[in-house]
Amino acid sequence: MSRPVPDAHAWWQRGVVYQVYPRSFQDADGDGIGDLAGILSRLGHLAALGVDAVWISPIQPSPMADFGYDVSDYTGVDPMFGDLAAFDRLVAAAHARGLRVILDFVPNHSSDRHPWFAESRSSRTSPKRDWYVWRDPAPEGGPPNNWLSEFGGPAWTFDAATAQFYYHAYLPEQPDLNWCNPELRAAMLDALRFWLDRGVDGFRVDAIHHLFEDPGLRDNPPNPDWRPGMPPARRVVRARTMDQPEVHDAVAAMRRVADAYPGDRLLIGEAYLPIDRLMLYYGADLSGFQLPFNFHLLSTPWRARDIAALVQRYEAALPPGAWPNWVLGNHDRSRVASRIGAAQARVAAMLLLTLRGTPTIYQGEEIGMQDVPIPPGRVQDPWERNVPGLGLGRDPVRTPMQWDRGPNAGFAPAGAEPWLPLASDHAVRNVAAQEADPRSMLSLHRALLALRRAEPALSVGSHAPVAGAAEDVLAYERRDGATGRRLLVALNLGGEERGLPHAASGSRVLLSTRLDGGAAPRLRPDEGVVLGR
Ligand code: NOJ
Repeated sequence: MSRPVPDAHAWWQRGVVYQVYPRSFQDADGDGIGDLAGILSRLGHLAALGVDAVWISPIQPSPMADFGYDVSDYTGVDPMFGDLAAFDRLVAAAHARGLRVILDFVPNHSSDRHPWFAESRSSRTSPKRDWYVWRDPAPEGGPPNNWLSEFGGPAWTFDAATAQFYYHAYLPEQPDLNWCNPELRAAMLDALRFWLDRGVDGFRVDAIHHLFEDPGLRDNPPNPDWRPGMPPARRVVRARTMDQPEVHDAVAAMRRVADAYPGDRLLIGEAYLPIDRLMLYYGADLSGFQLPFNFHLLSTPWRARDIAALVQRYEAALPPGAWPNWVLGNHDRSRVASRIGAAQARVAAMLLLTLRGTPTIYQGEEIGMQDVPIPPGRVQDPWERNVPGLGLGRDPVRTPMQWDRGPNAGFAPAGAEPWLPLASDHAVRNVAAQEADPRSMLSLHRALLALRRAEPALSVGSHAPVAGAAEDVLAYERRDGATGRRLLVALNLGGEERGLPHAASGSRVLLSTRLDGGAAPRLRPDEGVVLGR
């Protein structure tokens, strides 16, 4: 008798990650800001959606200068979100539903209110002085070099108490930690262990490409491509402040910590880098991140040939054994429906959930949320405040989740004022309304995730481009190695009806982005289909 072959893939290879931005997901206590109890109360939504893991943006204590990405205690929970007991309840409830929990880990910088920084800045001889990056002024008294902060202004702030500058890749309230210091490194790895001991299934590691800087502090070269309207930090090429070789050793150290725990703990790395540089973050012999985030769909023109070329380049660049991943949006980037339009956002969802590799879905994308214009008086994002008017602010993609047509769209109790305004379409675009609509964006996501779960070809199968499709059509085949089952994905990225590629003949539509049961032999405008026999 033949036995089923055990699936050799890890949960994070088969699975789908869903990002929760905790301030904006669900407010249980009525302060207008989401919290852990709120997330717990909405786990049913994630289970019904069919995702496998929830990544929660930072929940640690923070003065919130950068909304949690400025941590003042790596082993606690900000009272705004709850406490450790609430966190433990959330993990237990998620695990009971078969959902994994991934936390954000912010290793590059702490808050300036972290006790470590208070100690570090207190004197040049403080035992923690070297936990941060301190330097003397340049001979004429200015900053040590020309490095710029991502959020505008110089990357160096002068501290009169000890007459030195400290370095910050982001806000002055986010001083960079010095990973060259072994004690700092050990303390940060202990912070990982603290959460792993509490049962977290992995981490999304923030801003990893910023972890080290040039030890010689050489200037960054000017950027000949900089134009007015681009972020001021892009005036220089960040050759000395990003993607330094020392980073890989630090990532491998994080990975060893995670691997010491049972259950395939996952490390995802946040690095906005060209494909060849990104690949190095898998580490030598895959000793680095299991998933260095692949953000290239965010910046590739939404055209079939460009996306086909991207997929091929990315697949070809993967080191042996490395697992791919894809991202369409997050709390830092314009929402997909605003970038390419509502009709194509459905096609994009099918792309994300049928490409080879682990997909990450940002909260709200499953109901097609759009960027929300923020009135000037309600701007929260420090980037927008520092560099106004260039459209850099990230508040528009962080507005509260739209659950129902009730007060505050179900995000917060009646009478509460959400920290960011709700989208004007919340009464019609919300989870409850879309649950009741069999053709909604939410129904499409549920159907895609269900199909992906039912068809191993879509989750762990191989990928091959399909030639001969029309100009606007992106087509590829997914094939399950164990059974040989083949599925064809054909996506119409244009607004004109198009023929299906020849390879589709004889197959039937398993799922159309239209969700209307239509099985036309042609692709309708803005339609994507998964075909099989
Ligand atoms: C990347 C995070 O996603 C972003 O929100 C944050 O502002 C920076 N890193 C700094 O931590």
